[in-house]
Amino acid sequence: MPVEILQLCPLMPALETALAERFTVHRFFEAADPDAFLAEKAASLRGVVTGGHVGIPAELAAKLPALEIVAINGVGFDKVDLAEAKRRGVRVSNTPDVLTEDVADLAIGLVVSILRQIPRGDAFVRDGRWPSGELPLGRKVSRRRYGIFGFGRIGQAIARRLEGFDAEIAYTSRSPVDTPVRRVESLAELAAWSDVLVVSASASPETRNVVDASILDALGPEGILVNVARGSLVDEPALLDALESGRIAGAALDVFADEPRVPERFFALSNVVLTPHMASATGETRQAMADLVLSNLDAHFAGHPMPSALV
Ligand code: 8YV
Repeated sequence: MPVEILQLCPLMPALETALAERFTVHRFFEAADPDAFLAEKAASLRGVVTGGHVGIPAELAAKLPALEIVAINGVGFDKVDLAEAKRRGVRVSNTPDVLTEDVADLAIGLVVSILRQIPRGDAFVRDGRWPSGELPLGRKVSRRRYGIFGFGRIGQAIARRLEGFDAEIAYTSRSPVDTPVRRVESLAELAAWSDVLVVSASASPETRNVVDASILDALGPEGILVNVARGSLVDEPALLDALESGRIAGAALDVFADEPRVPERFFALSNVVLTPHMASATGETRQAMADLVLSNLDAHFAGHPMPSALV
């Protein structure tokens, strides 16, 4: 009998095919009656595959008595209760490293897009406005001050890329990192120093809404916020107020507090660049993530250590 697993969100077709070759996969996110499904199937479900942005709701995990493994197709594990998983003896894996370059690349893309107004320029040409007007001037990317909030694998990869812009770089993070990059004690101090504040910290209850009105005011009317981490790190209503009132100059965001729902107030702003949580979304990287998800599942069900176990 194939092992039965629960899939909590759409995954790339190649991963869905490979999962279906190994397991009986139940697409829970398409279940017409989730309660009826669980009443019938919960006792036989041994694995869950999910996205980093989805995780597994605590109340769903509690309803799966046979659960052995949660395999996250993503690096973020903020939506999985690791302490509870450990208590229950449920294994959890994620996909670190393989997506670091792509997330850092998109961070740089957002930096350049917002400072040099690439999306506005594109719309300007497409809308036929070029012959009769000029785009307002943008801001230089090179030789600016970039503050990186969160200096793990992704934050450090962003810093390496920014060096190519002859940038001044500083970071803040919970604990010091062995790096020549200057560390600043507090997020407020970093924001006050930065022209561009790039959020690449992991999400947790402690970092919820840490980029609040006071941090945005420290960033100031010439400051730009870039977020490739999680929407939960930023107080979104405070950000909207700061953008609308010109208390910061702009923002480029790949993540949102309640995605895929994005507050319509953002759409009226010309000083924002918005992307749909796509930092790891290249064919190459999603394939590498898929391979790691499969390696973790295969290792677990073969009784071997998982290549990227969190718990
Ligand atoms: C993905 C992510 O969008 O890695 C993460 O934590 O949020 C992203 O890479 C998502 O997890 C894809 O399933």
